[in-house]
Amino acid sequence: MQLKRLKAFHTVARLQSFSAATAVTKLSQPTLSRLIKQLEDDIGVELIDRYHRPLQLTAAGAFFFEKIDGLLKELNSAITLTQKIAHPTDVLNIGFVPSVLYGLLPAVISALKQRLPTLEVHLKDISSFQQIDALKSGIIDVSFARFAHTDATINQLLLRHERYVAAVPKNHPVAKDNKQHLSLSELQDEKLILYHKAHLKNLSGASASAALSTSTSLLGDMGASHEPLLTLFAKQMATPHHTKVVSDIQIALGLVAAGEGITLVPASLVSVRPEQISYHSLVHEDATLPIYICYHRQHPHPAFNTLLEVIYNIYETRGITYRRLAVIES
Ligand code: BEZ
Repeated sequence: MQLKRLKAFHTVARLQSFSAATAVTKLSQPTLSRLIKQLEDDIGVELIDRYHRPLQLTAAGAFFFEKIDGLLKELNSAITLTQKIAHPTDVLNIGFVPSVLYGLLPAVISALKQRLPTLEVHLKDISSFQQIDALKSGIIDVSFARFAHTDATINQLLLRHERYVAAVPKNHPVAKDNKQHLSLSELQDEKLILYHKAHLKNLSGASASAALSTSTSLLGDMGASHEPLLTLFAKQMATPHHTKVVSDIQIALGLVAAGEGITLVPASLVSVRPEQISYHSLVHEDATLPIYICYHRQHPHPAFNTLLEVIYNIYETRGITYRRLAVIES
C-alpha cells in the first residue's frame, strides 16, 4: 500500500472536501480521486460514500481514518526527530505557557544566549497540554508548563513551586488599606475571574461552552472540581459566590484592571498593570502552583543541560527556593 494513497485519503477525510484537499496536497481532484480508489482496491473496502453530498465517509472509512490519523502523526514525528538527530541544528524551539513569560523566561533566554551565543532560540506560546504533542512531534524541543501530565515519552522535571497572589482593582478597599496576607475566605464574596478554560477542556473533553459559564454551578461537576482557583478556595473551606470564566490570564488581569472582579495569579505577574491592579500575598502556605520543564525522554536537545544550569543560576542569584534535579547524562 502506497503512502501517497493513504495521505490522499487522510487529507480528504480530515478536510471533508476534495476541493479543500487539492489546495493542501497540490494534487488535482481527479488525481486525489484516483489515489483513494486505488487505496480502496488495495484494502477491498469502500471508504468514501460517493453518493452523499457534502462528502461523507462510510462507517469503515471513519474507522480507518481514526486509525491512520494516529499512525501518520507518529510517522511525521519519527521523520522530524530522525532529521534532528542526523542534522543537529543550533536552533532551540521552546514552548511556554503565558504566565512564565511575565516571570523569569526573558532572563532565562538572555542568560542562555550569553552562554551559547550561536544558539537561535524560537519561542512558542502553547498550553501545558498541547506541549505534549508538540514535544512528541519535534515541533518544540523543550517547554515550560504549569500542569503535570503522565505521558511516558515526555520527561517532566519540577523546577519550583510559585506562590499565588490576589490581584484586586486599585480602588478596592483591601488595596486602599494596603492589606497584605489575605485569607481566601476574605475574598469569597468578590466576583472571582477564572482563566483555566483550556486546562479544563483538556481534562474533561467538555465543550468550551461549559467553561464559558458565568456562575460556579454552571461549570458543572467536572469543571468546578478541577478548576485550579476553585480548588484553592475549597482547600480553605471557602466558596466564591460569583465567578466569571475567561480564556486566558491576560484577559483575567484586564478585567481586574477594569474593576470587573478579582483573581489569583502566580507571584511573577505582579508587574502587570501596576497602575490599575494591586497585588496582595496570601496567608496560605500551600497556595502555590508548580513550574515544570519538559522534554522528549529519548531526544533531549544538546542545549538542555546548559538551559537547566542557567535556570538554577538565576534562582540562586535571586534567592529563589527551588528543587535541583540532576542534569541529563550525555
Ligand atoms: C520560573 O519562573 O521559575 C521560570 C520561568 C520560565 C523559565 C524557567 C523558570
